[in-house]
Amino acid sequence: MVSAAEPRNYSDDQIEAEANRLLTKLMHVECEASRSWNIEACREIAPLTLEINDLKREKGAVILAHSYVEPEIIYGVADFAGDSYMLSLKAKEAAAERIVFSGVVFMAETAKILSPQAEVVVPDRGSGCSLADSLTGEQLRELKKQYPDAAVVCYINSTAEVKAECDVCVTSSNVYKIVASLPQQRILFVPDRLMAENIRTEMRKLGIDKEIISSDGTCIVHDEFDPAIISEARGKFPGLKVVSHPECTLDITSKSDYVGSTGGMMQYVKSTEAPYFMMLTECGLVERIEVEAPEKRFISGCKLCPYMKLNSLEKIRDVLVAPRPEQIVTLDEELRLKALRSIDRMFEIAEGAPHQPKGC
Ligand code: 13P
Ligand code: SF4
Repeated sequence: MVSAAEPRNYSDDQIEAEANRLLTKLMHVECEASRSWNIEACREIAPLTLEINDLKREKGAVILAHSYVEPEIIYGVADFAGDSYMLSLKAKEAAAERIVFSGVVFMAETAKILSPQAEVVVPDRGSGCSLADSLTGEQLRELKKQYPDAAVVCYINSTAEVKAECDVCVTSSNVYKIVASLPQQRILFVPDRLMAENIRTEMRKLGIDKEIISSDGTCIVHDEFDPAIISEARGKFPGLKVVSHPECTLDITSKSDYVGSTGGMMQYVKSTEAPYFMMLTECGLVERIEVEAPEKRFISGCKLCPYMKLNSLEKIRDVLVAPRPEQIVTLDEELRLKALRSIDRMFEIAEGAPHQPKGC
């Protein structure tokens, strides 16, 4: 049996060809959060990306990567990279024996809910999320008792246990559309307090009467941006477009030119003419756009998610070779089926008639 301790041997030609393949993508990464990529750096990781791509074939595995993980994962070994919604759809469609989820644990749990036949593994079990970790199923059950008439809406950044208690799940790509479509006036939205503020404001702008109650979670990355950097940067860089995520404070989103999911932000920057962009989100997204639209120019401002950054090529190789028990996502079947209902309801509404408010 091949183990993590027995590296495979690749010929110099194979390594050179792989290093050149990697370089065509990674050479565009300029974000200061990333290491700098030249041919030597690509040669260094080439044996690992070759090995991971071989292991994927041998083990019938698919690698799903969130846009926030390191670019060598996205462009070296991932089969699909994107936002939470896109990756949920990919997990649902995946006919793979094994899914390696390079992102954070709640995303891997969602993949397991949608693809129960697959062995879903995570490169690092410590890759939590301050939002998902802020609320337990028990705490939500208590909250629901206080608001029995409310529709219970959970952001996808939540545990399977929380999803099992919800009427409908949402992601940042469909949250406004789904909340607006619900018949209930009162909405219990968990676990993101800042996204709840953004929903409240968006519903008001749309003239839709909703009372939004929320729990107290925040994203430790997106709640940190200081609105003063926006006015300062706008003064220095005329024509600047500011892009942010709905996990940011209202102070940030109200001053942004575009607010949306990671997929939405990427699409907006790619399709918008502007001399500079400031991305108030995780730096991995800036790196993705640098690779895919190298003509775009960025003003620094992004931050790092410590959980996403626990992913690495070495850990992906090791989990493919032999996952440790804690790296395999397991769910009680009754809980999985309850959580699935809230995700399926999201797909039904999100894939229905379009209704996207300004900016998303
Ligand atoms: P997206 O669904 O927009 O990819 O966001 C996920 C996330 O964790 C943002 O912090
Ligand atoms: Fe969670 Fe924030 Fe990291 Fe996204 S960026 S995974 S919301 S901690």
